[in-house]
Amino acid sequence: MRHLSVPSEQTQVWLQRCRANGWLAQTGVVVVGEHHRGLPLTDDAPAEGDACWEGFPHVEVEPRNRGPTHWTEHLPEHLQSLPESTWPSSYEIMGDILILKLEEKAEPHAQAIAEAMLAQIPPLRLVCADDGVMGDFRVRDLTPIHSRDGSTTTKTRVKENDQVVDVDPGEVYYSARLAHQRKKTHDEVRAFRQRLNRPVVVADPYAGVGPSFVLLLKDTDLLQGYLAGDLNPKAVDLMRQNIARWSRKIDTEFTPATVLCKDARTWKDEPELRGKADVVLVNLPHDSFEHLPDLFPLFVPHGEGLLRGWAIIERTTIDTRVEQLERLVRAAGGTPKETRVSEIKDFSTTRIKVVFQTLIAWE
Ligand SMILES: C[S@@+](CC[C@H](N)C(=O)[O-])C[C@H]1O[C@@H](n2cnc3c(N)ncnc32)[C@H](O)[C@@H]1O
Repeated sequence: MRHLSVPSEQTQVWLQRCRANGWLAQTGVVVVGEHHRGLPLTDDAPAEGDACWEGFPHVEVEPRNRGPTHWTEHLPEHLQSLPESTWPSSYEIMGDILILKLEEKAEPHAQAIAEAMLAQIPPLRLVCADDGVMGDFRVRDLTPIHSRDGSTTTKTRVKENDQVVDVDPGEVYYSARLAHQRKKTHDEVRAFRQRLNRPVVVADPYAGVGPSFVLLLKDTDLLQGYLAGDLNPKAVDLMRQNIARWSRKIDTEFTPATVLCKDARTWKDEPELRGKADVVLVNLPHDSFEHLPDLFPLFVPHGEGLLRGWAIIERTTIDTRVEQLERLVRAAGGTPKETRVSEIKDFSTTRIKVVFQTLIAWE
């Protein structure tokens, strides 16, 4: 195949010129000797010697094989003929782990699928099958299928808002999809800090690996301190690591700076946790409303507090939820203001996920 040979440092310029004129073929750039690159030319490109090439020669080189563009092209030949519907159509990548749900018809080919995916996506280390979320800790039931280097740990690292987050999808809940909610939480906490005209203490008793603090800690002069916890000890280990790493970059002394493994409903029984928070986050979507009465005592018992949480509810009950939330606040001795309950997304045919928020005046 005909290639234009140019000095390596001029590759980009000539790539642009050839592309702009429609002379660049789809195969990749090849190496021509130590200091030159070959740009693949289409049949329409002018002949060698045309003034447009500024004296650079054309050379005949084998085109570079672009390689498979989809993981299914790496499957063994005898599987290639199976219908497309056999193969998983979606998957999730978390750090160096690929997580996929295997339908019954794909199960016998699990190993071939995993090997094909590792071949197609070089940064991956491990492919796992996801059998759904289990128990109170909301952890996925992951089965390692194939590992590039033999290691089957589900510990890995992801990036969220420019910060490294240590996660372990086989042991601890974490969802990258909630990053936009965390961004909104940051906006709300910032607005509340402006309203109080002082840095605030945020309590997140269901904090998982701690992602709600990625942005909160980074925002100078936003937090006076934090109380972060979870009932899953493995979540707390990772959260400690994460918060320590994020805090190292910040020149602020947080008070309190508490990370603990404890049932959120029992925090109120500890003098160092009770009555300390300006903001309380409640992220236990299947039980958030039920836990609320045990969480109100965490608020500083005077001035204003901000409650923000997430819940999965029957769609038909959404209209009653503002009233329910306000009733719960009043029962705890507070006066609710600006209460909102808004749908985020469908959860099932009858249930939806909502975000709720209320400003509470304490006497
Ligand atoms: C939906 S996850 C939210 C995690 C985190 N806020 C996030 O956004 O990634 C709920 C978390 O609550 C924890 N949890 C469940 N029951 C709890 C309880 N009674 N007290 C404290 N944490 C609990 C689970 O271990 C899990 O990490």
